[in-house]
Amino acid sequence: MIITIDGPAGAGKSTVSKALAEELGYLYLDTGSLYRALAYKALENKIPIDDEAALVNLCSRTEVDLKNVGGKMKVYLDGEDVGAKIRTQEVGSAASKISAYATVRQYLLSLQRRAGDQGGIVAEGRDMGSVVFPDADYKFYLDANTDERIKRRLTELLSKGTSAEYQNVQKEMIARDQQDSKRQHSPLKVPEKAIIIDSTVLSPAQVVDEILKYVSTK
Ligand code: DC
Repeated sequence: MIITIDGPAGAGKSTVSKALAEELGYLYLDTGSLYRALAYKALENKIPIDDEAALVNLCSRTEVDLKNVGGKMKVYLDGEDVGAKIRTQEVGSAASKISAYATVRQYLLSLQRRAGDQGGIVAEGRDMGSVVFPDADYKFYLDANTDERIKRRLTELLSKGTSAEYQNVQKEMIARDQQDSKRQHSPLKVPEKAIIIDSTVLSPAQVVDEILKYVSTK
């Protein structure tokens, strides 16, 4: 069984997908972490993120891998667990930029589909229901208004001890929305047959309950 959850940054996809996977005993596939891992390596190696040829070269000498560690998918970059290093604004924004390249997307495609071979996954990203798993059993599109998404991102950053201001997060969020939805290859969009859920006034638990109303695991 494959459940996909797509949507813009800050819509609550990660929290909801994680909780849903736990509730169902499924694996949680965070595909943004794959783009982030690659972007992290590009930044570390000072590779210009607008240089597609250099990024293709980077992919050819990079191993991004997903491992099931105690029922949780972890992302490994050249053998190293980079989960904790890739959750910054800088890496997120670079991930959004490199994810516009078809070659980068192609490089990560089979890895994502292989994760689906294990069955029982909740796959979260931007093109899960439209491109990676078009035949998923259930597709959801999670959205929230921009102000709420900015506030959530701000709270997340501040809780991690990262200094952040509303205006900066707003700027970054608007740029990311533009990049992710206007790009030519696999842009963020509502997949065909997806159920749209607006989480603006819902808690993560309420969103999970809403999703579970549609999902039958029998
Ligand atoms: O969900 P996230 O913030 O970790 O994703 C980081 C970036 O990666 C996002 O802005 C666009 C890209 N991405 C993508 O293009 N396709 C996906 N399925 C997941 C993420």
